[in-house]
Amino acid sequence: MRIGVLTGGGDCPGLNAVIRAVARRSWAYGHEVIGVREGWRGMIEQNFQPLGRAQISGILPRGGTIVGTSRTNPYKVDGGPEAVQAAFEHIDALVAIGGEDTLGVAARVHRETGAKVVGVPKTIDNDLSGTDYTFGFDTAVHVCTEAIDRLHTTAESHNRVMVCEVMGRHAGWIAVHSGIAGGADMILIPEQPIDLDDVCTEIRRRHENGKNFSIVVISEGCELPGAEDKGEVDQFGHKLLAKRGVGDRLGDEIEARTGFETRVTVLGHIQRGGSPTARDRILATRFGLKAADLVEAGEFGRMAALRGDDVIAVSLDEATAELKTVPADWYAVAKTFFG
Ligand code: F6P
Repeated sequence: MRIGVLTGGGDCPGLNAVIRAVARRSWAYGHEVIGVREGWRGMIEQNFQPLGRAQISGILPRGGTIVGTSRTNPYKVDGGPEAVQAAFEHIDALVAIGGEDTLGVAARVHRETGAKVVGVPKTIDNDLSGTDYTFGFDTAVHVCTEAIDRLHTTAESHNRVMVCEVMGRHAGWIAVHSGIAGGADMILIPEQPIDLDDVCTEIRRRHENGKNFSIVVISEGCELPGAEDKGEVDQFGHKLLAKRGVGDRLGDEIEARTGFETRVTVLGHIQRGGSPTARDRILATRFGLKAADLVEAGEFGRMAALRGDDVIAVSLDEATAELKTVPADWYAVAKTFFG
């Protein structure tokens, strides 16, 4: 069998570990593995690359993806679905590694054409249903927690409020986990409405109670009351985030309303770049092995997923039906430490 591997959407630490595991297990089954360049764009353009021992060697700890990525949606490209179908004449099966967008396309291609596709869940945002965790999330949380630790010492020295904006377009998982781990004094996420009066009252109260600094973690997908929505979306229909992010605007509001000197740090793509944590390397490796096993077993339209400590297979349709957002009980854990 000839198996194609593609990575789509934003890159994520651990992608190369998945590619390596898919290749190693598939070779053991006697199959050939090739890379599809830059996500679904590579299927549309039939842009393939060899994946042999030389290409796989040494990639386990490397961030990014050796086969490139893009946010191309074939269903938004003229002739895209037909081109994808034509590409399947060159491969017998496809392992699609991605988040809800890339895997949503994988589910649809399988549903509508019967193409032999299996999925692997990736995203630093951890917002994919069907799996307890996605790989890349642990690395992002680790980076953010370290940043929050660093912000603490400079905040204390200067009596400042520090706003730290983290990623997570529709879900506050990174904010909640790194905020809890870093001891943030306030965490704002898209799942919870924001009342700026409450935020500032809480900060004022904290400072009246003897603290001279505050750390506020905000998820980039939050909407501040009164913010203008320009309605611009990408190929997958996601709202384009403002160039001047929500963290900056929150910092302005806090400073103007409380009078406390405020600084803003936007962690941005630092959260996504670089080497995966050991936990992410292991999860990515287990997902890659499972994907190769699913192909071998002919279980298409399925996705590798983590349930407890087990790697299982779930339906791609179910996994991409809706986003996994932060439930109230997780936010309640964070809230215990506000103020
Ligand atoms: O989906 C992962 C993610 O890192 C989100 O957290 C973030 O909103 C988005 O990608 C950024 O995308 P881009 O790299 O295209 O700006």
